[in-house]
Amino acid sequence: MSVNSGTIDRPLRVAIVGSGPSGFYAAGALQQADLNVQIDMLDRLPAPFGLVRYGVAPDHDNIKVITRLFEKIAQKENFSFLGNVYVGKDISVEELKEFYDAIIFACGAETDRKLDIPGIDLEGSHTATEFVGWYNGHPDYVDREFDLSQEVVVIIGQGNVAIDVARILCKTVDELNKTDISQHALDILAESKIKEVHMVGRRGPVQSAFTFAEIEEIQDLKNCTPVFDKKYLDINEASRIELNNPNDHMYIRKWKVFENFAQTKDIKKRKLILDFYLSPVEIKGQGRAEKVIFEENELVGKPKAQKATGTGRFIEIDCGLFFRSVGYQGRPLGWVPFDEQKGIFPNKDGRILDGDHEVPGMYAVGWIGQGPVGVIGTNKSPAQKTVANLLADIPRLTPCRNSNPQAIYDFLKQKGVAVITFDDWKKIDAAEIARGQEAGKPREKFIRVEDMMNVVGKKTLMSTDEKRR
Ligand SMILES: Cc1cc2nc3c(=O)[nH]c(=O)nc-3n(C[C@H](O)[C@H](O)[C@H](O)COP(=O)(O)OP(=O)(O)OC[C@H]3O[C@@H](n4cnc5c(N)ncnc54)[C@H](O)[C@@H]3O)c2cc1C
Ligand SMILES: NC(=O)c1ccc[n+]([C@@H]2O[C@H](COP(=O)([O-])OP(=O)(O)OC[C@H]3O[C@@H](n4cnc5c(N)ncnc54)[C@H](OP(=O)(O)O)[C@@H]3O)[C@@H](O)[C@H]2O)c1
Repeated sequence: MSVNSGTIDRPLRVAIVGSGPSGFYAAGALQQADLNVQIDMLDRLPAPFGLVRYGVAPDHDNIKVITRLFEKIAQKENFSFLGNVYVGKDISVEELKEFYDAIIFACGAETDRKLDIPGIDLEGSHTATEFVGWYNGHPDYVDREFDLSQEVVVIIGQGNVAIDVARILCKTVDELNKTDISQHALDILAESKIKEVHMVGRRGPVQSAFTFAEIEEIQDLKNCTPVFDKKYLDINEASRIELNNPNDHMYIRKWKVFENFAQTKDIKKRKLILDFYLSPVEIKGQGRAEKVIFEENELVGKPKAQKATGTGRFIEIDCGLFFRSVGYQGRPLGWVPFDEQKGIFPNKDGRILDGDHEVPGMYAVGWIGQGPVGVIGTNKSPAQKTVANLLADIPRLTPCRNSNPQAIYDFLKQKGVAVITFDDWKKIDAAEIARGQEAGKPREKFIRVEDMMNVVGKKTLMSTDEKRR
């Protein structure tokens, strides 16, 4: 690098786009490096923490303590939060480069993987992404409507997100009303008529993607019985090899939960039914989802590589509400190279690649870099590795044209973007906690961007709706 950046006179200027776990792990790693660095973390929302706030289920509050670590990072002198700044809309990637020597993209996988079957757009068919965003008060999704007057729900997919969706649908209001679930969602859930939730996997129980603790928790629900037909305990040889994996006892632990479920006799008000070996082929209904047609599958292939293969036999499940929970996917951003198939910014150890070539000064961490798999902590080590690569690249980075730390604020102000600082966020946070206390909840989130901005007396020229378009 031609300027002596990272020194006392000229801090290295790094922008991190996204304030979820991967962004914070990257920021923490930068703070531990032996150099003078200024980290500006931008998020399109006024509230930080990404899916820790807007994904993690409200009844899993203990997971959210990780935000205390992130707060410590945010409160260091060389860190600034620029909330309510939408990269790609309020500022382009090209413009961002003017102000930073390096950009780390930590913008997550914000959309859903597609399930392209006839009838998918019928009324009553939704993505898990929408439903999760709705009950967690994500401003993009709070106006969605879910018809919980239906009695039967089908969820496609058997990952931990599907289990979150199923659990929230199956819990009683008493089990949810002391959580930080958004009140608008709780009010609708309180009127729910749901009796049966089918969680449908295209492969078998051994291949189910949810983890032990998450499936075990279902048996403790107050008013819901897990239903597991004992025919599913009969598995093929390859699955038995997977089950008895000596290096991973999670399979056996999960299996014991299934065995327990298979013996359950008492049937409570709601049932969470685990269905296997079924691929959805069509949703049918007059104007809205009324039934799902499935092809029965058998598993073909070696242990750990078994694929669901259609048998040509079909069954149907009548339902009034349908959710697809088949994984998340990243979104393209400006001219940043994007792998359409994987839904990520292609990279090697975090360095963004355009074909075979590295794009100088541009990095990807977390779900936008590795794809939408793994828990919060999974994002730490790749973020650290990426930061190590960024530090190694310093001599060949092109210095930004405008290294004045104030310049980005002036630029955004001129564009009418009101920046939410971390101090602003702490005020919004305190207001949410105070609102929650009245109802005995950890917090009552503000579900609209404008309401968060109002707490700190800021207004943005471009409305949230305009930004979303
Ligand atoms: C529904 C759900 C529940 C989960 N529950 C758990 C759990 O209980 N425990 C657990 O350990 N893990 C859980 N996970 C996994 C965990 O949330 C992820 O591993 C982690 O959040 C990924 O971090 P990230 O930083 O890559 O992305 P994210 O957390 O998604 O953060 C991305 C951030 O980027 C911002 N952003 C996006 N685009 C832009 C842009 N153009 N400009 C500015 N900002 C932008 C977003 O607003 C967001 O704040 C869950 C995941 C999901 C989907
Ligand atoms: N409590 C927690 O810790 C928690 C909570 C939520 C999320 N997370 C993590 O977040 C990550 C993402 O979770 P996720 O549930 O979105 O994804 P996931 O774990 O990848 O699960 C996706 C599910 O969808 C199925 N699927 C994919 N394509 C399909 C298709 N075309 N037809 C039918 N089924 C299909 C998969 O089946 P196949 O296996 O056959 O592909 C799998 O059952 C995971 O790593 C998860 O552990 C953690």
